[in-house]
Amino acid sequence: MGDSGGRSARGAGAASISDVPVEDRYFLLIEAVHDYAIFMLDVGGRVASWNPGAQRIKGYTSDEIIGRHFSAFYTPEDIATGKPARALAGAAADGRFEDEGWRVRRDGSRFWADVVISAVHDESGALLGFAKVTRDLTERMRLAELERADMVSTQVQIARESEQKRVAQELHDDLGQRLTALKMSVALLEADLNAGPATRPLASHAHELQIQLDAMASSLRRIAADLRPPLLDDLGLAAALEWLAEDFTKRYGVRASVHLEAAEPRFGEFASTALFRIVQEALTNVARHANATRVRVDLKCADAVLALDIEDNGGGVELDQPPARPSFGLLGIRERVRQLHGNVAFSSAPGQGFRMSIRIPLDALR
Ligand SMILES: Nc1ncnc2c1ncn2[C@@H]1O[C@H](COP(=O)(O)OP(=O)(O)OP(=O)(O)O)[C@@H](O)[C@H]1O
Ligand SMILES: [Mg+2]
Repeated sequence: MGDSGGRSARGAGAASISDVPVEDRYFLLIEAVHDYAIFMLDVGGRVASWNPGAQRIKGYTSDEIIGRHFSAFYTPEDIATGKPARALAGAAADGRFEDEGWRVRRDGSRFWADVVISAVHDESGALLGFAKVTRDLTERMRLAELERADMVSTQVQIARESEQKRVAQELHDDLGQRLTALKMSVALLEADLNAGPATRPLASHAHELQIQLDAMASSLRRIAADLRPPLLDDLGLAAALEWLAEDFTKRYGVRASVHLEAAEPRFGEFASTALFRIVQEALTNVARHANATRVRVDLKCADAVLALDIEDNGGGVELDQPPARPSFGLLGIRERVRQLHGNVAFSSAPGQGFRMSIRIPLDALR
């Protein structure tokens, strides 16, 4: 770290900090601090001392910065509006000036700083200069931003699922019931038409209508099921996954199997929905991209961790290639896993099938 002068001389030969002269103890204290930039400015704002924390945060060695004006730490915008001078004037007038904002490192990069400037006076009250303490809060700010973004994206997902659930319910309860009623009416009509010799030729039309209505009802069931997996709310994840695999096999002719080890896992609604959506997206990818004949979903809980592995025997893909078009499936899976504090790995190569391995701490799934 920057040699602020005489570090080895001060305190040398002392067996304990209490043997060190008091003035040197302060020096050693400031030298030991690496998380804060602690330095002095003269009355005109030129840097008069420097500590290792200042070097770490701002990037200048003491030789490079001592004697330079402290406006070097400010952004061009702040310099243009006279912020450094205002800060010193504020500290001189009130004894203390505090500010949070962007500052500039030696290499030009910016960091979010918490800055306190305190006026230093001599015994007669004359201004000697300023003590400046700067903390780098960039990481903390980024973390707070990430946390906020995380909360928002979780809320958006919850809201979306609940809206889909509502629409699925409406489709089933309202449209579904009406379709059933309509089908019964058409069945009665068909019977009536069949009863009279004059109307019998028309009965085939009514029969045709019934076939159409059946197709509509099954489309409706499929749309509702895509919006909200049946069984998930009533019977839980295991049953919903079994249903998903069965439905997938029927729809796409690719054999999907679900293997659950140990007792049926009972997770919270958010977690169950997330796991279900992950498997659903993985299966959709198999249908769209894999050209596989089978796909296997393994779910097991051991050592406080849930392991979810999904593997197909299809054509695979070169994962290092940048995507040919925007795609969100794998991104969405990553995002869901991240929200559950887990991790996910995709592995594949041309001709080698596709595999995803997800690990999530059970604590995050309750
Ligand atoms: N099981 C698989 N077998 C082979 N390739 C796959 C498989 N799963 C994903 N891929 C490849 O990874 C790419 C990214 O998948 P992703 O799910 O993110 O996007 P997508 O399915 O193309 O589009 P969407 O945003 O609609 O999901 C796919 O375009 C495909 O090339
Ligand atoms: Mg996809």
